[in-house]
Amino acid sequence: MTERHQPFPALPEYTDAQRIKRARTAYERLKIRHSCRSFADTPVPREVIEAAILAAGTAPNGANHQPWHFTAVSSPDKKRAIREAAEAAEAEERSFYAGKASDEWLDALAPLGTDADKPFLETAPWLIVCFAQRKGGIEEDGQTQNYYVTESVGIACGLLLATLHDAGLATLTHTPSPMGFLREICGRPEHEKPLMIVVAGHPSPDASVPDHALRKKPLSQIASWL
Ligand SMILES: Cc1cc2nc3c(=O)[nH]c(=O)nc-3n(C[C@H](O)[C@H](O)[C@H](O)COP(=O)(O)O)c2cc1C
Repeated sequence: MTERHQPFPALPEYTDAQRIKRARTAYERLKIRHSCRSFADTPVPREVIEAAILAAGTAPNGANHQPWHFTAVSSPDKKRAIREAAEAAEAEERSFYAGKASDEWLDALAPLGTDADKPFLETAPWLIVCFAQRKGGIEEDGQTQNYYVTESVGIACGLLLATLHDAGLATLTHTPSPMGFLREICGRPEHEKPLMIVVAGHPSPDASVPDHALRKKPLSQIASWL
């Protein structure tokens, strides 16, 4: 059966010069995004989070199954529960891998100044827990196979982060390990896999960016032209 099609949406008609300018402006705006690990408790309206999640939901994705779910957490009790479980998970992981692998991982993390204490999980006004749906299809029947799930949700999370940044908020992609506890706290089904917590809010006055994170690869290294 041939699907009905609609005309492709009208895109703005820029000149090449305008296009170059807009692309460069977008880059200038994005390049000041940095992961924030110290948040103020200043509230952020729910409408901002709603729009950012809607933007995430526009991402290209495998077979348009849209294999994602975002649980936006602002309840202090739930945030406390997430912080306690994340800190406990991290403490367990660190003691479990108290060997070579852990040393390597801790060395990689060292320049970022991360540690096991995660107060931002309670201070930040919003924790957006991003889930990947392994199954379900567009109807979310819990059975239909989904495709390119990690790629799709990764792109959606990128749009979520870019939209929050564009709204003037600071973010952190936080990945406690292991993170199965998020499914239980957020009341999500077994076939959904928590991928990351996007912490969103205003940076605290003492928030900082490690030098390590400021070092971005140049165009000559990240792109080749054939
Ligand atoms: C999938 C993913 C998981 C991450 N997990 C953590 C994390 O658990 N804790 C943390 O402090 N930063 C985490 N980060 C942030 C990275 O450390 C950060 O993006 C990187 O160092 C570059 O710095 P920038 O975001 O300031 O440009 C994560 C980033 C990604 C993409």
